[in-house]
Amino acid sequence: MNILHISASPRGPQAASRELSNHVVERLLARHPGATVTVRELAGVDEEPALPHIDAGYALALSSAANEPGVDGAQLRSDGLIEELVRADIVVIGTPMHNLTVPSTLKSWIDHVVRINRTMRPTPEGKVGNLPDRPVYLALASGGIRTGERARQPDFLEPYLRAILAMIGLKDVTVFSAEGLALGAERAAEGRARAWSQVERHFGG
Ligand SMILES: Cc1cc2nc3c(=O)[nH]c(=O)nc-3n(C[C@H](O)[C@H](O)[C@H](O)COP(=O)(O)O)c2cc1C
Repeated sequence: MNILHISASPRGPQAASRELSNHVVERLLARHPGATVTVRELAGVDEEPALPHIDAGYALALSSAANEPGVDGAQLRSDGLIEELVRADIVVIGTPMHNLTVPSTLKSWIDHVVRINRTMRPTPEGKVGNLPDRPVYLALASGGIRTGERARQPDFLEPYLRAILAMIGLKDVTVFSAEGLALGAERAAEGRARAWSQVERHFGG
């Protein structure tokens, strides 16, 4: 059993999304003792450089019919990140909302793994995922409210992540969401408690 833990906040150990996704991984390990966890930090924490954007070689390869394995740069990174994703039985993604959507480093990961004729293929009916489905847990954090009647901003984070993951075949998505973390101590505590209780409800007490 392999768990892939992807983390996109640049805020290191202080990140609410990382704390929430760590909690999800702990609950998964309790359920699957002996599972291995691969941590993929995207935003340049723990002395790991941030995941770069895709480059010219990659964009050209994706535009050509060959779409061959890479020898360097983004193509090689893409091969490695896709391999890491393929090997995962469960995927956990911890991410903040940045400017209504995913942080740019998570978008870069998406650009590396959503690869035509690899992880998805075009059909007359639209793009179809090539990856076998598996559970994906999203641990989301936002400064404001993102969902429900109290939301005061459009949400391009969760719907986008659901759509893009589905496009490569990952449709079994569960969302835990800590919201209102920048709205003062009381509402932040409320938002965190709500997210943690979503996790408890999902995994059982
Ligand atoms: C560049 C940037 C953009 C942000 N944009 C939004 C936003 O559009 N909506 C929102 O609710 N919060 C926004 N926030 C606040 C973060 O979502 C919030 O602080 C969240 O708790 C951060 O999660 P983290 O602790 O896991 O990094 C933004 C924060 C940053 C740094």
